[in-house]
Amino acid sequence: MSKDLLIPRRALIKSAGLAAAAFTFFPLTGCKAQNTSLLGSTREPTALSIPPLQRGEIDKGERVFRLSLTPGEKEFVPGVISPTIGINAPYLGPTLEMRRGETVRFHIDNSLAEGATVHWHGFELPAAADGGPHQLIAPGERWSPSFEVRQRASLYWYHSHLHRGAGPQVYAGLAAPIYVRDDEEDRLDLPSEYGVDDIPLIVQDRVLDGSGRLIYPSGMHAQMMGVRGDHIFVNGTRNAVFDAKSGQLRLRILNGSNARFYDFSLEGNGPMQLIASDGGLLGRPHTVRSLKLAPGERAQVVVDLSEGRPLRLIANSPENGMGMMGGGMMGRGNERRGVDQAFQILDIRTAGSASAVPLPVQLASLTPPDLSLAIRTRRFVLDMGMMGRGMSINGAAMDMNVINERVPVGQWEIWEIANASMMAHPFHIHNVQFQVLDRDGQVPPPLETGFKDTVVVNPREQVRVLLSFEENTDPDLPYMYHCHILEHEDAGMMGQFAVV
Ligand code: C2O
Ligand code: CU
Ligand code: CU
Repeated sequence: MSKDLLIPRRALIKSAGLAAAAFTFFPLTGCKAQNTSLLGSTREPTALSIPPLQRGEIDKGERVFRLSLTPGEKEFVPGVISPTIGINAPYLGPTLEMRRGETVRFHIDNSLAEGATVHWHGFELPAAADGGPHQLIAPGERWSPSFEVRQRASLYWYHSHLHRGAGPQVYAGLAAPIYVRDDEEDRLDLPSEYGVDDIPLIVQDRVLDGSGRLIYPSGMHAQMMGVRGDHIFVNGTRNAVFDAKSGQLRLRILNGSNARFYDFSLEGNGPMQLIASDGGLLGRPHTVRSLKLAPGERAQVVVDLSEGRPLRLIANSPENGMGMMGGGMMGRGNERRGVDQAFQILDIRTAGSASAVPLPVQLASLTPPDLSLAIRTRRFVLDMGMMGRGMSINGAAMDMNVINERVPVGQWEIWEIANASMMAHPFHIHNVQFQVLDRDGQVPPPLETGFKDTVVVNPREQVRVLLSFEENTDPDLPYMYHCHILEHEDAGMMGQFAVV
């Protein structure tokens, strides 16, 4: 089976531009690439699919969205149909656009043959509207939550959070982006024309069998490492190409994969301007040449196209859990320990040189985290047990009937997350945007100078975040905190907290 693999990272580094050009660049004119694919067809570049933008309708002062979860079909390779799940579409769903300060309402019909949930990842909202495992929408039923948008402008997303079934449902397509806009950001001259100079990139890997059909591996290895495929899809498009018409392009990248970590860069190692993290704009743009995103994490970069040269977004990705798996544990199979793979993510073509407005020197005024606010520290220890059979937080697996933590509303706390396992875990907390204080006492990287709702905790590492849940108390209905490797979440690396 062919893979969307480009070239091992070591080779990329050693022979810089030359090998990279010879091996990995698609001819822009569309002549045949050397790489053949499934069913003998060539890997043709395909126009990046942009999810349709949905603004809903204003009704009685609320912005109302109508969504339908439906079974679908998709050809992951041409001519081979796989069953999928979509939202108002055969696969994935529309980008929902909303503004900070307004009230949104959703009417979500579940037309699937199975129960599902729809979770608003990154939002502060009442627990009853969260869309976690307690808000099951049975087949044939409608769920109509509503909440006030309290989030800063950024890229968020909505996806299945079915109890013990988020992995397969997200994998089948139950996930899509959310754009929150606000005045703070509108005042800045940032690229913001949806689908033109501001595009979402939902990056997902998939496993296809020899015939090109989508499969969700369920063996012990997949459960332990999380499901990782060798075929990369961006907004559902393989070998995606985007034709840019502007001098700069804003990429809103969502790692929507179940388990794969990516380290994004531009081929040739060009600069990207990092402007936003999960929860909105950073204080200022940071020039970066590499951008690491774990499942659930988002970031926004602006790339310069003013010279009219095409760009290629690629990503290095560890073949296994951050290349961190210990020796004895996985002593068989064809696992290539510690070797990164490089994937093509997106080819950006240009129509010639164009003007680019310099980015503002300052983006947002963020107050640095104030440790002295914290009343108490809560500690969370992530563990996998032997062979991944004991996925747990603080020694306990997720239990729908147990509220693990009760947090007083408005109380500032330090949450200290420690990783006792041999694999990195992206730790996600519902109903909050937090600030990262430190990792093992070290100052966090640029992406973590902004607000986050998901943070990677590396093996043996300890990350401290500062947070406070501002409103929306409910003593009976909890929110979740969990590993965003969906197979880990489904296997129990999740806990529940109530805001009281
Ligand atoms: Cu993105 Cu609890 O989920
Ligand atoms: Cu979430
Ligand atoms: Cu995990």
